[in-house]
Amino acid sequence: MAIEVGMNGRLFHLHTKDSTYQMYADEHGVLLHTYYGKRIDGENLADLIFQADVGFSGNPPEAGGNRGYSLDCLPQELPSDGVGDYRESCIGLVHEDGSMAADFRFEGYRILPSSYKVKGMPALYDTEKETGSTLVITMREKASGAVVRLLYGVFEEENVITRALTVENQGEGDLWLTKCLSCCLDFQFGEYDMITFAGRHAMERSPERTRIRRTKLEVSSRRGTSSHQYNPAAILCAPEATEDFGDCYGMCLVYSSNFCVSAQKDQRGQTRAVMGILPEHFSFCLRKGEAFEAPQVILSYSDHGFSGLSHQYHRILREHMCRGKYQFAKRPVLLNNWEATYFNFDKEKLTALAKQAAELGIEMLVLDDGWFGKRDDDNSGLGDWFVNEKKLGGTLRELGEEIHSLGMKFGLWFEPEMISEDSDLYREHPDWALTIPGREPNRGRNQLVLDMSREDVREYLLERLTDILKNAPIDYVKWDMNRSLSDIYSHVYTGNRNGEVAHRFILGVYDLLERFLERFPDILLEGCSGGGGRFDAAMLYYSPQIWCSDNTDAVNRLSIQYGTSFFYPVSSMGAHVSAVPNHQTGRATPFETRGHVALSGSFGYELDINKMTEEEKHLVREQIADFHKYYTLTHEGTYYRLTGLKERFCAWEFVDEKQDHALLTLVMTSAEGNPLPVHTRVKGLAPDKAYRCSENGHVHSGRTWMNGGLTLSKVPGEYESVLIEWEAI
Ligand code: DGJ
Repeated sequence: MAIEVGMNGRLFHLHTKDSTYQMYADEHGVLLHTYYGKRIDGENLADLIFQADVGFSGNPPEAGGNRGYSLDCLPQELPSDGVGDYRESCIGLVHEDGSMAADFRFEGYRILPSSYKVKGMPALYDTEKETGSTLVITMREKASGAVVRLLYGVFEEENVITRALTVENQGEGDLWLTKCLSCCLDFQFGEYDMITFAGRHAMERSPERTRIRRTKLEVSSRRGTSSHQYNPAAILCAPEATEDFGDCYGMCLVYSSNFCVSAQKDQRGQTRAVMGILPEHFSFCLRKGEAFEAPQVILSYSDHGFSGLSHQYHRILREHMCRGKYQFAKRPVLLNNWEATYFNFDKEKLTALAKQAAELGIEMLVLDDGWFGKRDDDNSGLGDWFVNEKKLGGTLRELGEEIHSLGMKFGLWFEPEMISEDSDLYREHPDWALTIPGREPNRGRNQLVLDMSREDVREYLLERLTDILKNAPIDYVKWDMNRSLSDIYSHVYTGNRNGEVAHRFILGVYDLLERFLERFPDILLEGCSGGGGRFDAAMLYYSPQIWCSDNTDAVNRLSIQYGTSFFYPVSSMGAHVSAVPNHQTGRATPFETRGHVALSGSFGYELDINKMTEEEKHLVREQIADFHKYYTLTHEGTYYRLTGLKERFCAWEFVDEKQDHALLTLVMTSAEGNPLPVHTRVKGLAPDKAYRCSENGHVHSGRTWMNGGLTLSKVPGEYESVLIEWEAI
C-alpha cells in the first residue's frame, strides 16, 4: 500500500518502492513530520522527538504546564506563523482585523486512488503504466476561517512523493494570503549539504554545493520567470554523498515564475528546507469561499547518490510530466537559421539552407526571429504577428510548402508574451503592456512585457497564433521569452490586487499554452527564454524540449548540460552544432566535438551550412547517422555523469534499458605536455554480461569493465572528443 494510515487516522505513511515519508498528527493536532528516507516499516517515529524546555521557545496554550512542548522545536509539515515557531513558516495570513497569525491544526484526511491536479498549473499526471495515489490532509486555522488542504501524491515505482496545497477562505470576511510556500521538509538529525543550480544568461545551471548551517541558504527568482540565474530545483544531501553513494533528497518546483528554496539550521541543529512561490511582491486576496492553489513540489529520495536521484527525476519527468505526440516520438534533426542569418534573411537564403539541409539528411528547417511585422532587428515588431510577405518573398504557406516538398518539416519562432513599443499592437493597446502609471517602464532587449493575466491579451495571441498556423504547414514552434519582468502592474488588477499579478501572469501563460496545444496537438513545441531562462519542470508539461542555452560553445555546453542533467532528462535539452569561432565565446572546437556534445540533447544545427567545407558536410552526414543509431540510448537510456567539471576531461554515458548497449562520450577540456593517460570509469552495465568495447575490441564482463574501467589507447588533444560503445555479445 502506497498510503498507509494508522493510529485512528493520525499516523500516515507514504511508501514508495525504496522510500518512506511519515507524518503524525499529535494530541494537539500539530502535524509532525517524523521521517523521510529509506523505506521503513509502519512504527510511529514520533518518539524520536526529544522534548526539552528550550529557553525563549514558548509553549502553545494546550501544552498546559509542559514547557518541553514548543512549536519552535517540533518537526512539522505546515509550520505556523506568528504563534511561537520562529523558524521559516509556510503560510502568511492577514485577517480582517489586521492580525497575522497562522496556526493550522489537523482536522481530517481523505485518500484518492489517483493523482491530484493543481488548477491552472502543470502537475504530474497518471498513465496506464503507473497511477499515483493521493493523500489529502485538512488543516484548519485555530481562530479563523482559513483552511489548508495538504496534497501528497505518491508514485510508488518512481520513488516520488509530491506536495502541493490549497488555502481556502471559509470565513466571512476577506483573507489576505501574503505567503504560500508549497513544501516544508524538517530534518531533526544529521548534517546536510544543499546543491543549487545557478548561473546567468548563456551560462546556466552550474551546481553549487554548500553546507547547511544556521546562516540561511536561499536561492530565488523575482524575475517573473524561473530564470537563468537560479533554478527552481535543489538537492539536500549527506555531506559524504557523491554521484554513486549517499542520501540525497531532491526538491523540484513545478512552476515557472518567482520562487524561493531555502534551508537553514535552527538553534538545536535541526534543518528546515522550504520551497514555493517567492513571498516578496506576492499577496492574494481571498474573498469568502475563494481558494488559492500553490504549485506542486516533486520530492524524491535516493541512497544511491546523485545518479540515483537524477534517474528518478528523468523518469518521472519524461513519463508523467512531458506530454503530447513528441513525448516519446522521435524528434526531427533540425536546422535553425538564427546563428546562420540572424535577422538578415530572404526567401533565397532560406530555401538554399533548406535544400542543402535536405541533402545532408537534416529533417526540419526552423525559421527563427524576424519573419513578421517590422522586424529587421530586435527593436520593433513584437506583438505584430502578421507574416512579412515582402521579406519572405511570398506567403508563409508557399515557403512552408517548398520546404515540405524537399521532404523536410518546417518550424517557426514566436515570442508571444512580448510587445515592442514600436509596433502596431502597442500603438493600439498601450495598456496591454505591464507598466506602472506615472513611471516610465524599464526595457529589456528594448521590449516590454504583455500583461498575460488579461483574457483579452490571451485571446488576441491565440487568434494570431491560430491564424498563422492554420495558413501554413507548420510542424514545430519555438516559444521564446526574452526578458525578465519588471514594472509589474496590471491595468486590470489595479490597486491593492497588484500582488497577484506575477502569479496571474504565469497562470495566463499556462492557459495560453494549454489552449494552443489543444488546437494544435501535433505540433512539436520547443520552450525557450533566451536559451535556458525558463528551464523548469512546469514548462516540460507543454514543451518536451527546451533550448538549453543561447551559448552554443561545445566546451561551455559541457557544464551547462551537466548542471541541467541533475533534474532534467537529456531528451529535454535542445543542443545544436554551431559555427566556429563560436559566436558567444570566440572559441574554436573540432566539428566532431560539437556534434558529440549536441548528440546528448535534442539534436540540431545552427550555422550557415552553405558555408561548410566538403569535409564538414561529410561529418554532418556521419553525425546524423550517429543521431539515428544512438537515439534510443540518448533519448530513452539511463544517463550517467562519469566525471565532475574540474577534471582534464568531461565524460558521460548512456545505457539502454536491457543493458545490452552503452555509449560513452569523452571531451578533453585541457591539454598538457607529456600527457598522462586518460582512464575512465564505466557504469550501468550488467555485471554478468560480456561486452565488447569499440575502443580496443576487448571483451570483458560488465563487472570487470565497471571496476577496471578503460584506458584510452591515445590521449585526445585539447577539445577533441571520442564516442565509445560497449555491446553485449
Ligand atoms: C533568443 C533565443 O534563445 C535565440 O535562440 C533566438 O531565438 C533569439 N532569441 C531570437 O530573438
